[in-house]
Amino acid sequence: MVLSRFCLRAGVAVALMAGAAGLARADVNSPLPGTPDEIIVFRKANYKWMGDTFGDMKKAIESGADVTPFAAKANDMATWAKRIPTVFPVGSETGHETKALPTIWSNRAVFEERAAALGTAAAKLSTVAATGDKVAFADQYKVAGAACGACHRDFRAR
Ligand code: HEC
Repeated sequence: MVLSRFCLRAGVAVALMAGAAGLARADVNSPLPGTPDEIIVFRKANYKWMGDTFGDMKKAIESGADVTPFAAKANDMATWAKRIPTVFPVGSETGHETKALPTIWSNRAVFEERAAALGTAAAKLSTVAATGDKVAFADQYKVAGAACGACHRDFRAR
């Protein structure tokens, strides 16, 4: 009894904290939220998912683990890359401690090129993962990582 009440309370507390921190469950296929404010929360959650996924890939490369499970995840990264241009609408420049730089809106064409470059790199990473070739996967991982860095350098605050 005491325990279940505690669990219930703890669950509510976690949900409240997640709300306060502006966390949202990442899902690259879920529909775009309706307001710019919600879109900031949505994009941050999906970028965080991508960062975590990229970290898991790095660990697998370092430990020599099987890379085939990353075929689907790299494909999700490519899906996310295609959606990047849609998750920076006008009106989402500020709020929720966004690190998006104003250059995204003033230099849109280059920003979208950087997103497309990630899309190409991630799609290839997916193909390579499916073959199970660990060396080729590690090489393509570097190409994808360079695509992250190229965009962050010009379009994300440190
Ligand atoms: C086309 C540009 C672009 C590319 C490509 C890109 N990012 Fe980002 N990334 C951003 C921007 C802009 C933000 C800041 C978003 C915000 O705070 O609203 C961001 C934020 C993040 C964050 C922080 C999320 C959080 O917790 O708020 C992580 C982690 C991240 N990116 C990882 C990656 C990884 C890993 C890659 C490559 C696999 C990548 N990004 C590729 C532009 C990009």
